[in-house]
Amino acid sequence: MSSKPNLENVKRILVVGAGAMGSQIGMVGALAGYQVTIQDISEDMLTKAQAALAERMDRNVSKGRMERTDTDAALGRMNYLTSIQDAASTADFVIEAAVEKLETKRGIFQELDRHAPPHAVLATNSSTLGSSQVADITGRADRVCNMHFFNPALVMKCVEVVRHEQTSQETVDTAMGLAERMGKSPILINREIPGFVANRLLGALRTEALKLYDDGIASFQDIDTAAKTALGHPMGPYELMDLVGIDVVHLIRQAHFEETGDPADLPHPALTELYEAGHYGRKTGQGWYTYSE
Ligand code: CAA
Repeated sequence: MSSKPNLENVKRILVVGAGAMGSQIGMVGALAGYQVTIQDISEDMLTKAQAALAERMDRNVSKGRMERTDTDAALGRMNYLTSIQDAASTADFVIEAAVEKLETKRGIFQELDRHAPPHAVLATNSSTLGSSQVADITGRADRVCNMHFFNPALVMKCVEVVRHEQTSQETVDTAMGLAERMGKSPILINREIPGFVANRLLGALRTEALKLYDDGIASFQDIDTAAKTALGHPMGPYELMDLVGIDVVHLIRQAHFEETGDPADLPHPALTELYEAGHYGRKTGQGWYTYSE
């Protein structure tokens, strides 16, 4: 097989990381007919991901959104492994969705490059790190790009495919094509910039929302209401921070500041306060809002 990536050769997808993003990205791939492996060093994370996905699929069937035969077949196409070496050896396309830490990602990309077949594209779901920061540790920088999904990945249609200077056209075409076959609406980002496109738009809205609240202009609940009832957004900016995770939002902002060095880009103090208190949003039961489940 040629070492040039080609959509038609993609049969097996590996997703690295069994968190909320990784597991749902894997499920989207399996629902689209691909053989999917989810790899995570934590057995516990894999078990939890498997259970959460089965539950999600049950819900989709009971709500009449999907057929049981389709969800069972898709769940049957999913494998869960702790060994990255074994998982990478049969992958035609890899999407890394591990923790947003550069050193961890570099280690993962080094392993992936060693063990994945030469034609395999190595993509990262990172929203904060351009793939050039991991491409240089591999011997296939031309086959590395960002493929950034949105939360919740089973639902949100957008995928940002971001090329770095050395990403080949074949890699871009394969990533865009794969996103389409996964039922998504990919957009191509021609150059690495902090926040890509969607998070830049969201960041502008979030900054303004935090300022309005901080200045005592309106409560955060009322700001959310305005976003929903005046602008038609499905969620207000505060609800969305809780969904994405206060820790993730904080990290995105911190990474943005580190790239620009502009103190105006530092995480907002109110955000830092929640972050330092461990109030990460829905996943901890407390963020801007309190969650009972
Ligand atoms: N995982 C999977 N599916 C989910 C979900 C989740 N966490 N939450 C909701 N859904 C699906 C379910 O099918 C759900 O129906 P059921 O509860 O009956 O199963 C359906 O969506 C509707 O959910 P809700 O009735 O709870 O509420 P909703 O109609 O408001 O829809 C939503 C939920 C799809 C999340 C919607 O509110 C929405 O689109 N919100 C905006 C999300 C958004 O902006 N995401 C981008 C985040 S930014 C990001 O991800 C980038 C980054 O780099 C961090």
